[in-house]
Order: sequence, then structure tokens, then C-alpha cells
Amino acid sequence: MRCFPPPLWCTSLVVFLSVTGALAADPYVFFDWTVSYLSASPLGTRQQVIGINGQFPGPILNVTTNWNVVMNVKNNLDEPLLLTWNGIQHRKNSWQDGVLGTNCPIPSGWNWTYEFQVKDQIGSFFYFPSTNFQRASGGYGGIIVNNRAIIPVPFALPDGDVTLFISDWYTKSHKKLRKDVESKNGLRPPDGIVINGFGPFASNGSPFGTINVEPGRTYRFRVHNSGIATSLNFRIQNHNLLLVETEGSYTIQQNYTNMDIHVGQSFSFLVTMDQSGSNDYYIVASPRFATSIKASGVAVLRYSNSQGPASGPLPDPPIELDTFFSMNQARSLRLNLSSGAARPNPQGSFKYGQITVTDVYVIVNRPPEMIEGRLRATLNGISYLPPATPLKLAQQYNISGVYKLDFPKRPMNRHPRVDTSVINGTFKGFVEIIFQNSDTTVKSYHLDGYAFFVVGMDFGLWTENSRSTYNKGDAVARSTTQVFPGAWTAVLVSLDNAGMWNLRIDNLASWYLGQELYLSVVNPEIDIDSSENSVPKNSIYCGRLSPLQKDQAQRVNFSGSQRSIFVTSRGILLALFAILVSSLAR
Ligand SMILES: *[C@@H]1O[C@H](CO)[C@@H](O)[C@H](O)[C@H]1NC(C)=O
Ligand SMILES: *[C@@H]1O[C@H](CO)[C@@H](O)[C@H](O)[C@H]1NC(C)=O
Ligand SMILES: *[C@@H]1O[C@H](CO)[C@@H](O)[C@H](O)[C@H]1NC(C)=O
Ligand SMILES: *[C@@H]1O[C@H](CO)[C@@H](O)[C@H](O)[C@H]1NC(C)=O
Ligand SMILES: *[C@@H]1O[C@H](CO)[C@@H](O)[C@H](O)[C@H]1NC(C)=O
Ligand SMILES: *[C@@H]1O[C@H](CO)[C@@H](O)[C@H](O)[C@H]1NC(C)=O
Ligand SMILES: *[C@@H]1O[C@H](CO)[C@@H](O)[C@H](O)[C@H]1NC(C)=O
Repeated sequence: MRCFPPPLWCTSLVVFLSVTGALAADPYVFFDWTVSYLSASPLGTRQQVIGINGQFPGPILNVTTNWNVVMNVKNNLDEPLLLTWNGIQHRKNSWQDGVLGTNCPIPSGWNWTYEFQVKDQIGSFFYFPSTNFQRASGGYGGIIVNNRAIIPVPFALPDGDVTLFISDWYTKSHKKLRKDVESKNGLRPPDGIVINGFGPFASNGSPFGTINVEPGRTYRFRVHNSGIATSLNFRIQNHNLLLVETEGSYTIQQNYTNMDIHVGQSFSFLVTMDQSGSNDYYIVASPRFATSIKASGVAVLRYSNSQGPASGPLPDPPIELDTFFSMNQARSLRLNLSSGAARPNPQGSFKYGQITVTDVYVIVNRPPEMIEGRLRATLNGISYLPPATPLKLAQQYNISGVYKLDFPKRPMNRHPRVDTSVINGTFKGFVEIIFQNSDTTVKSYHLDGYAFFVVGMDFGLWTENSRSTYNKGDAVARSTTQVFPGAWTAVLVSLDNAGMWNLRIDNLASWYLGQELYLSVVNPEIDIDSSENSVPKNSIYCGRLSPLQKDQAQRVNFSGSQRSIFVTSRGILLALFAILVSSLAR
């Protein structure tokens, strides 16, 4: 037993079990996380944010392909909680996905232990609270899945690893925001853009994020848009962003001066400190396609030899309303076909462009509208209603009437309605999904349990002829894709992972108003390799299954929520790259 590396959050322990036998190889890592409110002032106004073990953003879950994660999550909030591990595929194990269709929420004052394997995947992802609009108050943190030692990474080992969360931010609490969303007023524009929970660099002495670096070195920047509504453009003054990875796909390495990052998306860039470094440089996240939001998020890149603050205007954004630029940039992302990812064989050896499509879904989202007296938003005319009993549990316990396996393959010409309608997925089918955005803002679609190939996007209405424009060779596989307003995006996905999987619009107001659904994928045969895990022993029961729930010994208030302890040695190195508060007026 030994303490796990990142000592900034050394409240976790790692045990490398070296049991002999079939299960021996993959290590187990154990974590204890307490989720609670903290007080912080991201935009100068004191407010409640959601932190984990006293940190906001939360600790980085830093693991390696095939490790087993045992994560005891204590809910110290005053409302139910579920953490979801965005981009983690939970092979055969949707029980651990942390969304309302698979899990009963963890009641306030209870703990629940997630147990999942990060099977056959690598890359940069993040976790966040999936219900009750809580992501608007934080609760998110990075997930890094490293390559196993025997699988080479397609670039030299960087000198440091920096995780950045860029996001829109509201000074209102998530509870108030959720009321706004339910009302006719809807969600207002955010109060600002934050980077790792800090407001923008300004000369007035308010705290801002600082990344400390050494001249000449190269760092891997993992950048996540953890916001709730706003697409952001990310850039660093005078520095190139060499794109290397996005949500688990190693990409063709190309330099960009800026990158549009949409809600829920994650990117890795290598950034070389090739400037003189005599002063600091701006790190900028500015709102895209949203002229109502004036302020940008600004952090600072500080070389160790820096003599003074960043100066000059912020680096230029792309032309504000140019969605063509943004779409072309998205199309320029390519999979590196010759690099292996999680397995020794190169990832491009899966020739997705030659596989016969078994099912086609066209999914259309529309702006919110009044349905049955309430403001709701639909996908193919259906606004998802989360039942009190999670779909996955209802399926397992043969409880009928909780959901219907009747989600339409195309929009139907009928009145919009509120319903619990699920896609009956074909196990091992190869599915084409076209997302058609009939709303006025960019939407991010996300699928749990899988990575999909983003093969095409264009403006206008998708037609059968649109297929001729698909990238059938080297599209990136990811779990979150943007769909521009008045445009479509097409993805291909192989349904080889049995389970009940959430498909949603990641923009929080859309999700909250019903723009989600589930995809049920059942293996009809009993087959040890691909059959699903059975219900976890510690499952929480709710809804029609509440009688099965034993009360937790007692409700606990996990007070003193384990503030992170700073430990030396490797911690020093890590701290160098961590964002630090700098209130020194320079
Ligand atoms: C993640 O853990 C690995 C060891 O497994 C370590 O080499 C690496 O520095 C850690 N990365 C971060 C960002 O903490
Ligand atoms: C736990 O205690 C803290 C402070 O005493 C309080 O703010 C918090 O609301 C409590 N949490 C629960 C779940 O009762
Ligand atoms: C809650 O945590 C305790 C240990 O602190 C653990 O034994 C128990 O299994 C956890 N409960 C659940 C439901 O995971
Ligand atoms: C693709 O991956 C290979 C193998 O790891 C690497 O050598 C090469 O530099 C990468 N190519 C590009 C264009 O990024
Ligand atoms: C990217 O830009 C850096 C300079 O910042 C340069 O050294 C490197 O060769 C460029 N790489 C590619 C693939 O264009
Ligand atoms: C549910 O039904 C299936 C087959 O219809 C059966 O094998 C299974 O045991 C049932 N499960 C429960 C919990 O009753
Ligand atoms: C779902 O699909 C399976 C085949 O994949 C089929 O056997 C079953 O009848 C379908 N269920 C419904 C309710 O359509």
C-alpha cells in the first residue's frame, strides 16, 4: 500500500493488488471524495460553489488504461447528487455512469461507492455533477487516462501537464438558475467567463489564474469547456497550440492559433515556451457567437524569467459570428491513423468507413416551447421525463411501464409531448445518427458509453445526398460534438457496449428542459465477454424499488470535508504547474 502520486489531493490511497490469477493484472485505485459547498468569489462576488475535498475545481482523477477505480463519494450537499464520468465508457457497466437513467441519486448525507474500470481507453475527460443544474456551481474536475507503459504515446513526453477548465459563470446559485430556466425568462447571459474558477486578469488586484512555466519547455494543456451554455474560443498570446488529442483520439498534430471549444468538449495541446518570456502572456477564453457577453476569461502564462505583467491587447479572436470558420476548423480535426491508443494496434485499423450501417436516426432539436402547460424542449418531438425509477433498474427488475422502447427514428409529424421514450438499440449494430439543430444557438450532443466518429457537418438540412461529404477515413472518435444552429452533424457508432446509455444535449438548460434520451443496448445472447455486469451490491434503490432500500446506518454530515494536504517532493513539481492565486499587483 502506498500513497498515490498527486499529493495535492493525497487523501486518496492506491493499492496495487497483486493477486495471482485471471484478475491479477489490472490494479485497483481507491478514492474518498467529499462533495460539499465552498465559499469562493470567481467573479468578485462571494458565492457558494461546489467543491470536492475542499477543492474547486475538484481533484484530477489520474489513472491508466484498465485500472479499476473504487470511488467513495460522500454527498455533503443539501440535495441529491450524482457524479458522471464524462467520456469514460464503463464497458458493460452502465450501472456506474452516474445519470438518473442508471442510478438513484445519492441522498444528501449519504455516500455511495462507484466501482468501474477505465477499460481500453486513453485521453482527457472530466467529471461533473449530472443532476439539478449543479454543474453551474462547479463540482467538476479533470480525468486523465494515461497510456499503459507498453503503448507508445505519439509525441515526446511533455515537461508538464496542465489542466484548464474554461467556462461561462453565473453569480446566481444553481438553484436560482434552475428556476430561471423553468420560467419563461429562460437562462440569461452569464456574468463572465472563468478559468479554473478564477475571474479574468485585471489590473485591479483581483485574483486570477496563473500557469508557471520554464522557458524552452513543452507542456501538455488539457482544456475542457465545463460551462453550461457558451461555446468558447481558447488561445494563448504569441504561442501555438499543437493539437494532439481530443476526448481519447490522438489527432494528426497541427498548429492552431486558437480553438473553438464547445460545452462539454475536451482537447489536449502541446505548447512550447518558445518566446523570450521577459513578460507574462495572456491565456484567453472568449465567448463565441454571443455578442451579448462582453468579458473574456483571462489567465496568465508566466515564464520563470518573467519581469512583468502581460501587456498589449488580448490576442485577436476569430471573426465573432463566423460559424463557417468554426465549422471548417472542426472539420480539420483528423485521427492519426498510425498511432495506437489504448491497444497495441493503431486506432485507425478499425475501418469504420467500410462498415454497413444497420440503423439510421435523424434527431432534431427545437427551441423550448410550452407543452402541457410547462416550458419544455424536445428531441424528435419528445421531451424526456426522468422517471422516479431509473430505467436500468426497471429493466433489471422487470418493472414494466417505466419507459417505452419507442423513440422514433425520424421526427414525427405530431404534437410535441413529454414522455420517457428510449431507443431500442441493436447490439453490435452500426448506427448512423444525424443531429439536426433547429434552434438558434450551438448545441453539444454527448453520448455516454461510447465514442462516435464525427464524419460530417454542414449547414442546412441533412439529406441522403449529404453522405457523399462524409469523412470515411480519418474522422476523430469522441463523445461530444457540436451542432451549429441551422446545421447538422453526422456520427457513426458501433453499439458494442451493452447497457442503458444517456444521449443528451450538454448545454445545461436544454438538458434540464428535456433534450435527452436513453439508448438501450441489450446483448440477446449469454456471452461472458460482452454481457453486462449485474446490479452492484451497493445499489441505491428508489422510485418503485424503494422497498428494497435499507436505510444507511445513519445520515452522516461529512464535516471538515478533508481539505487537501500539501505534501512535498512530487507535490512541488505539480504545484509549479497548478493554477495559483496571484494577488500581487505587479
Ligand atoms: C499521473 O500519474 C502518473 C503516474 O501514474 C504520473 O506520472 C503523472 O505525472 C501524473 N499526472 C498528473 C497530471 O498528475
Ligand atoms: C453539514 O454541516 C455543514 C456545516 O455544519 C452545513 O453547512 C451543511 O449543510 C451540512 N450538510 C448536510 C448534508 O446536512
Ligand atoms: C459508504 O462508505 C463506507 C465506508 O466509509 C462503505 O463501507 C460503504 O460501503 C459506503 N456505502 C455505499 C453504499 O457505497
Ligand atoms: C502519428 O502517430 C505516429 C505514431 O505514433 C507519429 O510518429 C506521427 O508523428 C503522428 N503523425 C502526425 C502527423 O501527427
Ligand atoms: C508548430 O509550431 C511550432 C512553433 O510554435 C513549431 O516549432 C512546430 O514545428 C510547428 N509544428 C507543426 C506540426 O506545424
Ligand atoms: C426478469 O425476467 C427475466 C426473463 O424474463 C428473468 O430471467 C429474470 O430472472 C427476471 N429478473 C427478476 C429480478 O425478476
Ligand atoms: C427491441 O429490439 C429487439 C431486437 O434487437 C427485439 O427483439 C425487441 O422486440 C425490440 N423491443 C421492442 C419493444 O421493440
